[in-house]
Amino acid sequence: MGNVTGPSASDWEAVASQGDVDGARRMFVASLQDLAGARAMFIHLAEALLRNDPIAAAHVREVEILLGFADSPGAIAGNGAEAEPLRAKMILGHMYRGLGRLTEACAAFRCAYDWRPDLDEPAGMLIQVLQDSGNAAGAAEVLREHSAIKLQPITSLPRWTRPETSPDAVSLYLDLLEKVVCNWIYGDASHPSYGDTKFDPARREIGRDLPVQAHSMIGLRRLRHLRCAVEAVIDEDISGDFLEAGVWRGGACILMKGVLAARGVNDRRVYVADSFQGLPPPDERFQKDLATLHDFFKRPELAASLESVRANFEKYGLLDDRVVFVEGLFKDTLPGLDVDRLAVLRLDGDLYASTIDTLEALYDKVSPGGFVICDDYGAVLDARRAVLDFRASRKIEAPMTAIDSDGVFWRKEP
Ligand SMILES: C[S@@+](CC[C@H](N)C(=O)[O-])C[C@H]1O[C@@H](n2cnc3c(N)ncnc32)[C@H](O)[C@@H]1O
Repeated sequence: MGNVTGPSASDWEAVASQGDVDGARRMFVASLQDLAGARAMFIHLAEALLRNDPIAAAHVREVEILLGFADSPGAIAGNGAEAEPLRAKMILGHMYRGLGRLTEACAAFRCAYDWRPDLDEPAGMLIQVLQDSGNAAGAAEVLREHSAIKLQPITSLPRWTRPETSPDAVSLYLDLLEKVVCNWIYGDASHPSYGDTKFDPARREIGRDLPVQAHSMIGLRRLRHLRCAVEAVIDEDISGDFLEAGVWRGGACILMKGVLAARGVNDRRVYVADSFQGLPPPDERFQKDLATLHDFFKRPELAASLESVRANFEKYGLLDDRVVFVEGLFKDTLPGLDVDRLAVLRLDGDLYASTIDTLEALYDKVSPGGFVICDDYGAVLDARRAVLDFRASRKIEAPMTAIDSDGVFWRKEP
């Protein structure tokens, strides 16, 4: 919380304790001039309301208006301060519940839950209020989702074993290509939005930095996995093309194309799908997308133009007419995409909408035995929610495997 420049909670307490309703009210409204002060005051007031403090009760409307701040977690996310609006929402939910206003209580707990569906407290309260309101089906759906998210964190999944490669020319080329696309070789710096800027091999290994120059941010381990997936579908003769939804500078797609070139495969295409303008803002179609705690759409470092990605393919000598650029938002471009079968579908759009739109549009085109890879399952709760929702809606039971602390995959069952 920043500096509190307006009246503080203890100033208010002093005026309120003298029974000065108007004075307390003026002070409260003055505190709204300053966001940090307002938040502190809000929490204090909400707690006072919980104690049935009659003077605090005069501020219910202001408390409601103030909640408008907490309705935009995107504005707060990024500075690690989301715990505060979460706590505020929970207090407000309890307050409304105590007043018997179940609809408002439900909305407050729902908001807290949507921010953090993995936490027990918001889920438990939302389930309870939905049940109290006679909405048993809604309660059951929250219970289902919360249990799935809790039961399937990435750490609970079996872990993929990274295979060693052989010293033949094809393997040596692909080993080098993996290292070049994530710039393991020269070790470029990381963007300041990802913490320490110094090149750290341990972070680059698992794709937990944001390279300033490299053509992929997914790290060595996920690149090796992707290469193995492409090699497996070639070796096992699993039909279909390759598609990545969310390519950034194109490095993962360049690696897929490099495997095809090195193995002499000329009859499969690589689809390179992106807005080429960075991530879109939260999508009105999905409450779960609107509830995101991330502000990726405000970050220009996550955008790469189509021209620059095409130029990157050219630099590696891997650009031909079997590299297909699919420009635009996934919800617009993927449903009607002219592709018959996919052998590897790689999801790397980070958001709930981006992940579920891609699965809805393309999952049915994945060949039996084909790979579905989600890059963000461990790192971005929104992507995990989308994967779990999609798997539940389609009753997909093919087991998931963790590639590292972020990526997961499963192979489509026949
Ligand atoms: C995390 S980056 C992808 C990293 C990349 N796979 C790599 O190898 O480095 C996410 C990308 O997804 C794209 N993206 C996210 N949501 C999208 C959407 N709904 N439609 C189109 N592009 C989207 C962004 O433009 C961005 O390039």
